[in-house]
Amino acid sequence: MPRTRATQTDIARRAGVSQAMVSYVVNGNTRVSIPDETRRRIEAVMQELGYVPNALARGLRSGQTRTIGLVVPDNTNPFFAEIARHIENLGFEKGFSVILCNSDYDLVKENAHVDVLLAKQVDGVIFCASGGATEARDKLRASKTPVVTIDHDISNLRNETVVIDYRLGGYLATRHLLDQGHRRVGCITGPRTLSSSTERLAGYQDALAEAGLKVDTGLIVPGDFRIQGGEAAALRLLNGRRKPSAIFAFNDLMAIGAIQSARILELKVPADVSVIGFDDIPLAQAIHPALTTIAQPISEIARLAMEVFLKQTQAGGTGTATPTAVPSLVLKPTLIVRSSTAPIAR
Ligand code: RIB
Repeated sequence: MPRTRATQTDIARRAGVSQAMVSYVVNGNTRVSIPDETRRRIEAVMQELGYVPNALARGLRSGQTRTIGLVVPDNTNPFFAEIARHIENLGFEKGFSVILCNSDYDLVKENAHVDVLLAKQVDGVIFCASGGATEARDKLRASKTPVVTIDHDISNLRNETVVIDYRLGGYLATRHLLDQGHRRVGCITGPRTLSSSTERLAGYQDALAEAGLKVDTGLIVPGDFRIQGGEAAALRLLNGRRKPSAIFAFNDLMAIGAIQSARILELKVPADVSVIGFDDIPLAQAIHPALTTIAQPISEIARLAMEVFLKQTQAGGTGTATPTAVPSLVLKPTLIVRSSTAPIAR
């Protein structure tokens, strides 16, 4: 006979009290005064029977499941791992559990995850998109579930979003290399469907234009925000007809891949080629040479995303913003100079 879970009815029967009394104790109802002896007896029976409150039943009663859906492209990327960890910590402090979903930059997978999160009646979704406009967004927009987007501004969701000024980040990275005398700056982009990548490219182009340099499309190679993608893209650049003296990779993992490629080609970093990344993941300062990069305020992104989520959820938010336009929360990136970049060798 399969072991069935103890119910509040079982507890009431064993403790010799009403089911309502058991419910008051289970739900911590302070509006009803319960004699200490009765409370102790009920708690003892709960422990004896191994009673676990039914979260689904509680959710139906309260209208909350105390769960947050978090959708990111790939939490093996330390950037997303840190975001997830901060959000999980902040959620735990407020009595929420986090359901983490990896979309792998796969829109079908992203859509399937959103279906599950909505079916589980999560109290809200913190959503980092993995590509252009998708069915998943349409579903989130149509649902009344509060949504906070991070990393990509998805205004058609009419929700609040927490992003970085990526264009400024791309400008700072490129300007740093130009200030060091580099004129052939290679660029390894992220997936072209992501605004976080297209904005960085715009910043790269801004810095070149400011220096009076034309954009050489032969120096711009697509990447995938992964180490292997960065390595392959850097090999293309370093074996190209106009070998760059510096490479700007749109995230730290691809910058690490670019440093690996330089090693394969027996090029020294930064003596033969400078490399700058983006994110400032913990690994950036641990590798050799330590990576010059553009730092994103990762813990601040998570804190703001959670703040917006709580504001929407506790205000009975329905995932749609107030009639006025909802501002994006735009944070600033900062240049962190380490050992992987140096003035061009004369
Ligand atoms: O490293 C992952 C990248 O994807 C980060 O730069 C983040 O901004 C996201 O766009």
